[in-house]
Parts: sequence; C-alpha cells; structure tokens
Amino acid sequence: MLARIQLVAAQPAIQQQLGNMLRHDGYEIITAADGPAALHQWTAERPDLVVCDNDLRGPSGTELVIRIRQAEGSGAHTPIILLGGGTDVDAKVLALRSGADDYLAKPVHPQELSARVRGLLTRFQRAHPQQRRATSGRVVAFYGAKGGVGTTTLAINTAIAAHRELKRSVCLVDANLQFGDHRVFLDLGPDSRSIVDAVSASAVDLDMLRSSVVRHETGVELLLAPSSPEHAELVSQSQHHLLKVVEILRSLYELVILDMDERFDDHLLDVIGIADRLVVVLTADLSCVKNVRLVLETMSQLQVPQERLMLVLNRANAFTGISVKSVENVLKRPIEHQVVNDYRSAISALNSGTPFMAKRPDSALGKDVLELARLIDKPAAATVALKALELSPVR
Ligand SMILES: Nc1ncnc2c1ncn2[C@@H]1O[C@H](COP(=O)(O)OP(=O)(O)OP(=O)(O)O)[C@@H](O)[C@H]1O
Ligand SMILES: [Mg+2]
Repeated sequence: MLARIQLVAAQPAIQQQLGNMLRHDGYEIITAADGPAALHQWTAERPDLVVCDNDLRGPSGTELVIRIRQAEGSGAHTPIILLGGGTDVDAKVLALRSGADDYLAKPVHPQELSARVRGLLTRFQRAHPQQRRATSGRVVAFYGAKGGVGTTTLAINTAIAAHRELKRSVCLVDANLQFGDHRVFLDLGPDSRSIVDAVSASAVDLDMLRSSVVRHETGVELLLAPSSPEHAELVSQSQHHLLKVVEILRSLYELVILDMDERFDDHLLDVIGIADRLVVVLTADLSCVKNVRLVLETMSQLQVPQERLMLVLNRANAFTGISVKSVENVLKRPIEHQVVNDYRSAISALNSGTPFMAKRPDSALGKDVLELARLIDKPAAATVALKALELSPVR
C-alpha cells in the first residue's frame, strides 16, 4: 500500500473519476461527501493526504481545511490539495491561506493530479519522517528467559523511547495473551478494545486492526491483551492469527514490538520465524542462563540466523554472584546490552502507571533503555558488528 488518501467531493461523478484515477496509482482511497462527515472520517482514519473539492454542500472545502488544521495536534500535518473552480491567482491564494498545501483548478487533468499527489507525499514524508507510512516495519519480539525478569518493563519503555526519541511510528503488542498486563503498566482502565477483536474475526484485515488499536498518551499505539480472563481460551484457539496480525501491523508501523509470554512453544517459534530481532531478556542467574542456552540451541536447530537474537541483561548491576563475563562464557556469545538495576524508578513507574521513559527519560534506566531502542532500530548484522568491535581486545 502506497498511502491512504481521503477524497472529499459532493458530486458522485467527481468522487468516482478521481477515486479511480488515484486507485489506479496504487493508493487506498476513502471518501466523504461533505465537511462534517469528512472531518469525522479524518479524525478516525488519519489519512496520509487529503484531496478536497472546494465546492461542498454546507461548509466549503476551504472551511474544512481550516477545521483540519485546528484539529491537528502540534507537529502533525496532513498534506491537503484543494480543488477549485477558479483559475486566477486569488482562488489559489485563498486556498493556500486557509492552510492547503496545493491548489488545482477544475477540471483536473489525471496526470497533473497524479504528479501533485506524488510530489506532495514525497516532499511531506521527507520533512516529517516520523509520520512516514512504513511499507515493511521491523518486528522485534521481547522474550523473557524466565518470568519476572523485566520483559514487559523493557518492551514498554523501549517502545516509548523508539517513538519519542527516535521518532518511529510504533505499535506495541501485548502478546502475553492470557496474562498480559500492559493495561496495568500504562494505567489504561477498562478500554475493552483488545487483540481479541482482531484475532477472533473470521479474517484479519486492516480495518479490523485499525479499530482494535488503542493510542497511549505517549503516542505509542497498543494492541492490548484481553481485559478479562474468560477471553483467554478464545484467543489461544486463534493464535495462528497472530502472525497475520503482525504482518499487517508491519505494513502500518515502522516498528512493531511484541511482548511475548514465557512459554517456549510453537507460537513463539512462529514469531521467531518472522521477527527481525528476538530480544531475550535475562538476569544473571543460573535458571536464566540454562533457558537462554535452550533458546540458542533451538534457534540453531531451526537454522534461524544467530544474529537475529540479542541478549539483554536486565538489572545488570544487581548482585547475583554470577558475573557478566561468566554468563558470556557459558553462552559463548556476548551480552549485547545491559540495563541498570533501579528498583525504585521501576516500581514507582509501575505503581503510578506512568512508564519511566515517559516520566524520567534522562534517568540511568531511561538512558539504558534509549540505547536499547537504538540497537533494535538497526539491522541485526550492523549491531552485532558494532558490538564485536567494542568487544575486540585493544591492541
Ligand atoms: N531494570 C530494573 N531495575 C529494577 N527493577 C526492575 C527492572 N526491570 C524490571 N523491574 C521490576 O521487575 C518486576 C517485574 O517486571 P516485569 O513485569 O516487567 O517482568 P516480566 O518479565 O514481564 O514478568 P512476567 O513474567 O510476569 O510477565 C517489576 O516490579 C519491575 O518494576
Ligand atoms: Mg510481562
């Protein structure tokens, strides 16, 4: 999918003619016939670009442009092309003053509209990379070597760091389908939307997913686990849909982060098969080390490239009696990243429902998590190569 364009025109003939033209160019088209309906649709769908006829019943196209500009949050900007009857400079000036990015006089020549749309999308995406529609986002799965090591804490805060600091569009999926706790970590209340809506539909599609996603105040978008345990069965029966869900999400977001549950089952293996990175979170204790060895062996049996895997030691400076070096020796591979032990920040964030990455990004914990976000944002091979450079002995 190239981009989603909202086409606003009162006359069905114009809607049809321009809609067909743009569909032919590969765009997804949504349509509205008047200003109020268009504003409602724009709010719900957030198209990548709007093409709007000025000649609408009720409020004009120019007024709609003004309303959209008022409704946009700071930093957001939807490119808008206004179509008008006048060929003179005044008509164009009026359109641009209202906040439109471009003006075309009717009748519209197909090739000119096509060129203007393409030009505006390219110009706009260069200026606002964070709003770029990803065609194939990176999928990063977080998996805890055992329960309670901090997988959810790291997945949530890395998602926030990637969105806020690295300006990525991010969808965070609570793939701990039975006991997911993102609602608690993010103080979300009883919003009933969840992954159940998406995975229990007969066919998983784009519209279904868009309406299942919840936007967090940090800007990260969330696909939540079901809010009540009675849905767990329904979800586990339809787990095969999760892969389809992830594939669609990666067409919508630059980064899709999955917080996996601790079961080492087919479901996890499926995810490993499609993920660009598997972040294995561990602490420096024997049972974690044993489990990570199991993951490494399974991945090698499945011939999954080892560089896809990334070992992250959480609570790295907590005393466990086992040093980082000895963990690396046993596993025969480096710990790619370490996150400081800061129980006070982690627990107070949990109790207040505000992740530390949102509240105190400059804390030691925040800095370590930002670095983790940077690492997962790079292709796997590059990260491993960088790490190897750091680890090679100084000559
Ligand atoms: N770096 C850290 N320093 C101190 N405490 C931490 C750190 N990371 C996580 N914690 C704390 O560890 C506890 C467990 O964290 P979390 O729920 O994220 O783990 P989990 O691996 O997802 O657990 P589960 O297996 O239940 O899903 C929480 O109280 C959290 O605040
Ligand atoms: Mg968890």
